[in-house]
Amino acid sequence: MRITMIGAGYVGLVSGACFADFGHHVTCVDHDARKIDDLCNARIPIFEPGLDQLVAANVRQNRLRFTTELKQAVAESDAVFIAVGTPSRRGDGYADLSYVYAAAKEIAAAIVGYTVVVTKSTVPVGTGDEVERIIRESRPDADVEVVSNPEFLREGAAIADFKRPDRIVVGTQDERAIAVMREIYRPLYLNQSPIVLSSRRTAELTKYAANAFLAVKITFINEIADLCERVGGDVQDVARGIGLDNRIGSKFLHPGPGYGGSCFPKDTLALVKTAQDAGSPLRIVETVVAANDQRKRAMARKVIEACGGTVRGRTIAVLGLTFKPNTDDMRDSPALAIITGLQDAGATVRAFDPEGMPNAKALMPDVDYVADPYSCADGADALVIVTEWDAFRALDLQAVKARLRSPVFVDLRNVYPPAEAERAGFSYTSIGRPGGEDKAGVRS
Ligand code: NAD
Ligand code: UGA
Repeated sequence: MRITMIGAGYVGLVSGACFADFGHHVTCVDHDARKIDDLCNARIPIFEPGLDQLVAANVRQNRLRFTTELKQAVAESDAVFIAVGTPSRRGDGYADLSYVYAAAKEIAAAIVGYTVVVTKSTVPVGTGDEVERIIRESRPDADVEVVSNPEFLREGAAIADFKRPDRIVVGTQDERAIAVMREIYRPLYLNQSPIVLSSRRTAELTKYAANAFLAVKITFINEIADLCERVGGDVQDVARGIGLDNRIGSKFLHPGPGYGGSCFPKDTLALVKTAQDAGSPLRIVETVVAANDQRKRAMARKVIEACGGTVRGRTIAVLGLTFKPNTDDMRDSPALAIITGLQDAGATVRAFDPEGMPNAKALMPDVDYVADPYSCADGADALVIVTEWDAFRALDLQAVKARLRSPVFVDLRNVYPPAEAERAGFSYTSIGRPGGEDKAGVRS
């Protein structure tokens, strides 16, 4: 199959490289000339494990190329995927669909022969209808089918998620388009990844429902963690105790500083708006959005409390800035709200992140960035883990403590067992867990 991906961001680039790896011929088009120039020169604009090798291998095999020129690529393609951004619209939280509609117009002008136009961007229900209207209005002659095929990959595990998906959702009732989509995903079908066929609107809604449900799960366990702190329980044990019930499942029950990233925050918000407009409000999701927003700032207060009630004039060492490990993506990272909260309270913040610092510097120029976790701790009044990078999982706690001015350790990802941190001499605070001694007491 000949495929064009419009948008060479996380989704377009990963999907394009994976489709090429399946044996298809893929052209990734982006109107960001610098990004395309980077890609043409083997420079990958994002940090995603394994992506550089995958891209290089498929470029070498002449199955993957990059261009800013949409016209020829679309004209030669069997399928054109729209993978442009759908950020929150400034001010009101609706999904900004201007990039999707602009892409649809450009595609319309370039289509030659039967073409399946596939929306891979996360778009509100009914967007496919509008994409189809745009294309048919400007090209009534075009032989085209508009399909929804939402993407479920996670950053940091994007290639594995794309190549071994739990399911592939395809929204169309057109048999010819179904045949094209089956052919594109055939290598995965052989691996028995199920294809869920539905109407286009259903597929669009399925994507938002999936993200919202995961956000609900995270927020639920975060609130249970808060309750554990109040009444003396251990959220890790609660999560295990409920997660082993197959009806609940153990994934996405890790408590933390609140979900961030380029998707959950904007998608939950957009779904809330869709539901309100449809007269069918999703009150659970509305509450989750509000609870998660408040949680990020509350984490700054948690740090301040651990420091004895004030951080004015103190230095706080922050480990981890990205919204999750194995990405350099800072979009809506909890670190942004936490660090701002600490600075507002009069603290100086020093930070280290294995991959996120270049992007973080652009957003938070007034943070002191350092080269490793140990120099981050140097002379600081507290150490805070915000993102659970592997590099922070086996720190030499004695060495860290020796570098700190006072042994205050706030672990917002529950990376360390409380007993271990306390044995190392820290005053240790984590999320929803009793201290090491209490816990030992409960167990004995
Ligand atoms: P991104 O911002 O990383 O990339 C979008 C790219 O599209 C940019 O490079 C931009 O220059 C390009 N672009 C915009 N308009 C264009 C046009 N008319 N022609 C050519 N290029 C154009 O976005 P992303 O993170 O890849 O997300 C894309 C979509 O996929 C969003 O709807 C998002 O919600 C969804 N999604 C993202 C993820 C993820 O992990 N990031 C996962 C699943 C779904
Ligand atoms: C998420 C979904 O997991 C993907 O399926 C989806 O395709 C994607 O959004 C999207 O639509 O863009 P992603 O944002 O890359 O993927 O990362 P996640 O692993 O889902 O983490 C999101 C946030 O939730 C992070 O801040 C993470 O730290 C937090 N989280 C996740 C928790 O706090 N606890 C958990 O148990 C899981």
